[in-house]
Amino acid sequence: MDFHGRVALVTGASVGIGRATALELAEFGAKLILLDINYDKLLKVKEEIAVYTEDVLVYKCDISDEQAVREVVADAIAHFGKIDILVNNAALWRGYRPFLTTESGEWKRFFDVNVLGTFYMTHAVLPSMLEQKYGRIINVASVAGVYGNANMACYSATKGAVISFTKAIAKEVTDKGVLVNAVSPGSVSPAENDDVNYTEASNLAFIGRSGSDRENANLICFLASEEASYISCQNIQIDGCRRKQ
Ligand SMILES: NC(=O)c1ccc[n+]([C@@H]2O[C@H](COP(=O)([O-])OP(=O)(O)OC[C@H]3O[C@@H](n4cnc5c(N)ncnc54)[C@H](O)[C@@H]3O)[C@@H](O)[C@H]2O)c1
Repeated sequence: MDFHGRVALVTGASVGIGRATALELAEFGAKLILLDINYDKLLKVKEEIAVYTEDVLVYKCDISDEQAVREVVADAIAHFGKIDILVNNAALWRGYRPFLTTESGEWKRFFDVNVLGTFYMTHAVLPSMLEQKYGRIINVASVAGVYGNANMACYSATKGAVISFTKAIAKEVTDKGVLVNAVSPGSVSPAENDDVNYTEASNLAFIGRSGSDRENANLICFLASEEASYISCQNIQIDGCRRKQ
C-alpha cells in the first residue's frame, strides 16, 4: 500500500480503530485530517503520527453537528486542496440494555451520531471526490448491523442503516471513480488500550479472541488503497468467524 500524495480524513481518530487507521495511513504516506470530540487525545495521536508526517490537521468536531462538519471539511480542503479518502469511523456504541429499558432521547442521539453523522460527512466530502473523479469511502459499521445484537437494538439499527447507506451510495458514485465500502468488525480489543495489536480471549468468534485495532485498520487501509481498485458496494465482516448472536 502506498498513500503518498493522498489526503485522508478519519473521524473518531483519537482512540481505537480510528487511531490505528490514522497511524497506518500515515505510516504508508498519507496526509491526514483527523476529527474527534476528544481534542486532547487527538493531539496525542498527532504527536504519535509526527514520526511519519507533519501534514496532519486535527479538529475538535461533533459529527452530528452538520454546520460544524461543513466548516471543517471546507477548511481542510482549503488547506490540502482535496480529500481522497474518507473513513467514517466515529460512533456511539457502548451500553448493553434491553430495548424496553432504553428511551427515545438515547435512540435519537445514536441515530444523530452514527447515521446522520455519516451522512453529513459523506455529503460534505463527496462533491470534491466527484470533481476529481477519485475517492474512497470506508464506513465502519458492525456485525450488530448484520445479525442484530441482543441488548443493542438501537445501535444495531444504526449500523444496519450505515450498511444499506453504503450500498446505495456506492451504486450512485462507483462509475464516477468513488468506491464505497463498509467494514463490520466483530469484537475488538478495548479502545482504552493503547496497544494497537492488543487482543483478548473471546468466545464470540471461532478464532477464540477479539480482533486488534491494527487488524481492523489493515482492512480499512486496504480498501482505501489502489490494491482494492475493483471493490465497491461491499460490507466486509472482520470478525474471526463470528458465532452469530
Ligand atoms: N470496538 C468494538 O468492539 C467495535 C465492534 C464493532 C464495530 N465497532 C465500530 O468501530 C468504530 C470505532 O469503535 P472503537 O471501539 O474503535 O472506538 P470508540 O467507540 O471507543 O471511539 C470512537 C471515537 O469516536 C469519537 N466520537 C464519538 N462520538 C463522536 C461525535 N459525535 N463526533 C466526533 N467523534 C465522536 C470518540 O470520542 C472516540 O474517539 C465505531 O464505529 C464502532 O461502532 C467497534
